[in-house]
Amino acid sequence: MPETPKPDFKNGFLVNKLADGGMVAGQLSGEDMLLARRGDEFFAIGAFCTHYHGPLADGLMVGDTVRCPWHHACFSLRTGEALRAPALDPLARWKVEKVGNKIFVGEKLDEPGPKPAPSSAPSSVVIVGGGAAGLAASDMLRREGYQGPITIISADEAPPADRPNLSKDYLAGTASEDWIPLRPPDFYKDRKIDLVLGSRVASLNVKQKQVKLENGKTYNYGALLLVTGADPVKLPIEGATESQLHYVRTLADSKLIISKAVSAKRVVVVGSSFIGLEVAASLRTRGIEVHIVSPDKQPLERVMGPEVGKFVRGLHESHGVVFHLGETISRVQGRVVTLSGGSKLDADFLVLGVGVRPALSLAEQAGLTVDRGVIVNEYLETSVPGVFAAGDIARWPDPHSGERIRVEHWVVAERQGQVAAKNILGQRERYDAVPFFWSQNYDVAINYVGHAKKWDTIEIDGNLESRDATVTYKKDGRTLAVVTIFRDLQSLQSELAMESEA
Ligand SMILES: Cc1cc2nc3c(=O)[nH]c(=O)nc-3n(C[C@H](O)[C@H](O)[C@H](O)COP(=O)(O)OP(=O)(O)OC[C@H]3O[C@@H](n4cnc5c(N)ncnc54)[C@H](O)[C@@H]3O)c2cc1C
Ligand code: FES
Repeated sequence: MPETPKPDFKNGFLVNKLADGGMVAGQLSGEDMLLARRGDEFFAIGAFCTHYHGPLADGLMVGDTVRCPWHHACFSLRTGEALRAPALDPLARWKVEKVGNKIFVGEKLDEPGPKPAPSSAPSSVVIVGGGAAGLAASDMLRREGYQGPITIISADEAPPADRPNLSKDYLAGTASEDWIPLRPPDFYKDRKIDLVLGSRVASLNVKQKQVKLENGKTYNYGALLLVTGADPVKLPIEGATESQLHYVRTLADSKLIISKAVSAKRVVVVGSSFIGLEVAASLRTRGIEVHIVSPDKQPLERVMGPEVGKFVRGLHESHGVVFHLGETISRVQGRVVTLSGGSKLDADFLVLGVGVRPALSLAEQAGLTVDRGVIVNEYLETSVPGVFAAGDIARWPDPHSGERIRVEHWVVAERQGQVAAKNILGQRERYDAVPFFWSQNYDVAINYVGHAKKWDTIEIDGNLESRDATVTYKKDGRTLAVVTIFRDLQSLQSELAMESEA
C-alpha cells in the first residue's frame, strides 16, 4: 500500500482532526514532528525516538507523556525530556498556538537545562561498573543538577557500550562501530564525569567508604552505586582450546568474533536462548553456516513456552540454521565438534551463549546482603545505607509479581540506574517499572513485558507464523507477562495495564 503523505503543518492543522489523546506525525520546513493533543493542550515534539529512531506516532500517549513503540522509552510532551530509558536524549520541541479552528507550530524551543542543584547531596558519587546502569545513573545525576564529583570505574576497556547491539546489527555487519558507544567522549568531558576504564575494583570498604582498585589506587565516596553486571558462564569443553571458544559480553568479544567471521565458513553456537539465537542470526546474515547445539527441546522454551519456541525455531530454519536440540557437546578435536549423540560437526569456531552469572563478588566481600543477587529495597539501596545497586546484579521487590526478582534486561538496568541516581540525591523514588526486554532475530523483534517464571496458561491471540501475535502468560487467571510479535502498541498497552494493577 502506498504510504499516506504526512501532513505539512505550514498552514496549520485543523483542531477537529486531532482527537483528545491523539497524535499525528507531520512536517514543518523539512523537520519531522509529532503533534499531540491532551484535552485543550497541544504539543509539538520530535517525531522519532532518540534511542533507535522509533516512530512515536505509533506509540502510546499516557497523560502528558508519549511512549516509544519499539523499546518503551518515555518522553515528556511538555519538556521533551527522555523520562525513562532506553532513550537518554530529549526530543526537540516547538511552540504551539491555537488560532481559530487550527493549530500552528511556531519556533523551536530551547532544551531544558539541568535542574537546580539538589538541596542534599553526597560529597561525591563513585559508580563501580561502566555499563547500562552505570552510564544511565551518571547521566541522571547531572540532569538532576548534581554538581559534585562523579567517577565511573569500569573493568571494560571500552567506554559504556550499546551491549544489545553486540550480538545484533554490529555482529551482523549492518551497524558500524560508531553506533556502539552510548555516549561520545565529549559527554564525559562536558559533564565532568571521570571515566576510569580498564580498571577493576578489587575490594570495597563500606565502613571507610572507600573502593580499592586491583592496581592499588583508592577512591573515597560519599555515595556508591554498584553496577557490576554479569559475566558469561564459561563452559569447559573437552579438547577445545581457549581460542576456539567465544563469548559475547564486551565490545572486544564481539570484535574478535567479527575478525574471525571474515574467513569463517561454519560456526557452532552452543545454547538456544537469546544470545545464542541472536548470534546465529547475525552470523547467518554474514553468510556463515550455523549449527545450534542445545540441551533444550525448543529454543527459548523455558522463558517463552513451546509455541514461541517452535516459531523461533522455524524462523531460524527458514534462514538455514541447523538445530541439534536435546544435545550437548562431548568434545572438540581440531575442527571436529562431537555431539553427545555421537554426530560430528565441522566448525571454524564455537560461540557459547549458555547464560550469565551476576558479578557479586565485591558485594559479598563487602558484607552486603546477597541472595542470588544483591538485595536492594524499593529505592535500590542495599543493606548498607548510602550503597546502592542496580542492573543485572540487583534483586529488588517487584510490586507486579509480588516477588523479589533479578532480571538481565537492558532497559531495566538503565532505568534502575536512573532511579538509583535520584535516590542517591535523596528523592526517595520507588523502582516500580514493569520489566521489559526485547530480542531481535533477523527482521523479527520479540517484545516482552512483565515477568513470568512459571505459568499455568498460555493464551495466543493472532498467529505466530503470520508474525502477528500476542502471547499472554497467566497464573491463576492473572496476567504475568505478554510477548508480542509485530504488535508494538499492544505491548505498550499491556505494560500500562500491568502498571495499574500493581
Ligand atoms: C550481547 C548481548 C546482547 C544483549 N541483548 C539484550 C537485548 O536485546 N535486550 C535486553 O533487554 N537485554 C539484552 N542484553 C542484556 C543487557 O545488556 C544487560 O542486562 C545489561 O547490560 C545490564 O546492565 P548492567 O549495567 O547491570 O551491567 P553491564 O552492562 O554488564 O555493565 C557492568 C559493568 O561493570 C563492570 N565491572 C564488573 N565488575 C567490575 C569490577 N570489579 N570493577 C570495575 N568494573 C567492573 C564491567 O566491566 C561493566 O562495565 C544483552 C546482553 C549482551 C551481552
Ligand atoms: S527506538 Fe525508541 S525506545 Fe528504542
